[in-house]
Amino acid sequence: MKQISNGQESIPDSLHALVGDQWFVDLVDRFYEEIAIDPLLRPMYPPDLEDSKKWLTLFLQQYWGGPHKYQESRGHPQLRMRHMPFAIGVEESAAWMRHMTKAVKLGGLSLEIEERVLAYFSNAAEHMINKNETGLIL
Ligand code: HEM
Repeated sequence: MKQISNGQESIPDSLHALVGDQWFVDLVDRFYEEIAIDPLLRPMYPPDLEDSKKWLTLFLQQYWGGPHKYQESRGHPQLRMRHMPFAIGVEESAAWMRHMTKAVKLGGLSLEIEERVLAYFSNAAEHMINKNETGLIL
């Protein structure tokens, strides 16, 4: 495996290179177990969660340095735009992040890498907010 150094320890050049495809499949499985029973978020998703799981898995594998299969099937991610049909406020974003945090923390990463992964998700979840008390934020 190709390695780069951050000065303190040697880490692989991408999370995907470190953990492999299956880690993302398992992460997304754990995440969707929580979505499936969340009264606030579950109604936003389609009755069958399999495609939703697949797209999130492929997106994350691609984002973290793996193959570009998401792009091949779905085109450019444009995630904020793709989320516009769903009303995502502070509460929805926080619920999403709570489930993702739980899923990531069960992923067996080193603390340093776990922190980076959680920081990415936290920024992304905030960026996806598209409504406030008065209405839509564009
Ligand atoms: C902030 C709260 C969020 C909510 C409530 C939310 C909700 C949703 C919903 C309802 C879908 C549609 C599922 C479907 O139709 O199958 C979706 C799709 C998706 N979400 Fe989120 N999401 C959130 C944040 C995020 C974040 C932070 C990411 C990435 C880091 C993300 C990545 C995706 C991807 C990749 C898809 C599939 C897009 C596609 O159709 O190709 N979401 N999300």
